Amino acid sequence: MAELKACVLFILLLLTTKHVKATTRCHFPAVFNFGDSNSDTGGLAAAFGQPPPPNGETFFHRTAGRYSDGRLLIDFMVQSLGLPYLSAFLDALASNFTHGANFATGGSTVRPPNTTRHQSGLSPISLNVQSYQFNDFHVRTRKVQGIFKELVPKPEAFVHALYTFDIGQNDLTGGLFRNLTVDQVKESIPDILGQFRTVVKINEGQMDKNGCANPINELAQFFNRELKDLVNQLREELPEAVVTYVDIYKARYTLISQAHKHGFEHPLRACCGYGGKYNYNIHVGCGGKVNDNGKEITVGSCKDPSVTIIWDGIHYTEAANKWVFAHIVNGSYSHPWTPLPMACLRKQV
Ligand SMILES: *[C@@H]1O[C@H](CO)[C@@H](O)[C@H](O)[C@H]1NC(C)=O
Ligand SMILES: *[C@@H]1O[C@H](CO)[C@@H](O)[C@H](O)[C@H]1NC(C)=O
Ligand SMILES: *[C@@H]1O[C@H](CO)[C@@H](O)[C@H](O)[C@H]1NC(C)=O
Ligand SMILES: *[C@@H]1O[C@H](CO)[C@@H](O)[C@H](O)[C@H]1NC(C)=O
Repeated sequence: MAELKACVLFILLLLTTKHVKATTRCHFPAVFNFGDSNSDTGGLAAAFGQPPPPNGETFFHRTAGRYSDGRLLIDFMVQSLGLPYLSAFLDALASNFTHGANFATGGSTVRPPNTTRHQSGLSPISLNVQSYQFNDFHVRTRKVQGIFKELVPKPEAFVHALYTFDIGQNDLTGGLFRNLTVDQVKESIPDILGQFRTVVKINEGQMDKNGCANPINELAQFFNRELKDLVNQLREELPEAVVTYVDIYKARYTLISQAHKHGFEHPLRACCGYGGKYNYNIHVGCGGKVNDNGKEITVGSCKDPSVTIIWDGIHYTEAANKWVFAHIVNGSYSHPWTPLPMACLRKQV
């Protein structure tokens, strides 16, 4: 698992309508997110139970549906846009969707998994299911009455919203966990991207026209190159859309490879974990129980998560998410160069 741990796979795709009046800064009334645990703010927790403490300890001071000690990239993103944190679509308690909804669940893939969550850890809520859920959400928001009306976005918010996609990592690692070779996983990439494209286009159809798309080791880079090509095609196919490729792989790789320079320690060692060089054991997760020389102990976090990059061997710490966000928000990892607040302006590429 050591090789997988070091992977910094990541895709982020932003899709939005072109805002006609915007000149330098876009106003996004809502954010709709699709993805996996990298951006799950409570979806998997609503269906399968909360991630155990110490998840959430740094920022929320309680477990908060997230696989991190604190906020995720998506949290920093909505915050910077002046919007509240996203409620998970599946969360039946205290959800408020006025400024968007989050369809992401931990373990989600682009392609529907052929295994149960129990067998593989993959979520049954793959990207196509998230798309059905969004569809249903969209239709029903127009029909809700009374007090519920105040908890859903206005119809026009769907048109000008920012649609973010943060998914693909589990499609690659899922194949490797099934003992496929790197080449076999590579062969599946066209199909993964094909299914990704289908969902993006369905969503674009729902928001009228216009959109922004920002996508983000050898396999991941290959995936990202192919993705970049796909984004170029989508730009042509969706002429009213604004499509930007954000290389978050590169941002994370920079952070991990220059960790000390940026104030971080042990770049590949998990903060919340147990055992080995990487403080990671696939069988004993963060918050789990382990028998240590006859004594049962709970796997807890490191002394200082704020100088650690990897949270639990799979997910990132709030500090790492914050760093990555700060480095992508100004557009320095986007192709073409596009700061987040300008992600609704179509440029010549
Ligand atoms: C839902 O969120 C909106 C925007 O943050 C807020 O104005 C509204 O009061 C919230 N509604 C409830 C019932 O909490
Ligand atoms: C699931 O099985 C079908 C039929 O064999 C195949 O086409 C599909 O690619 C498989 N999906 C995954 C994620 O392996
Ligand atoms: C993958 O290979 C390992 C080592 O040979 C084996 O223990 C494991 O059961 C295999 N996993 C699957 C899903 O076949
Ligand atoms: C973007 O922000 C990061 C972090 O604040 C900074 O290091 C980088 O130089 C900035 N890049 C540009 C093009 O402004």
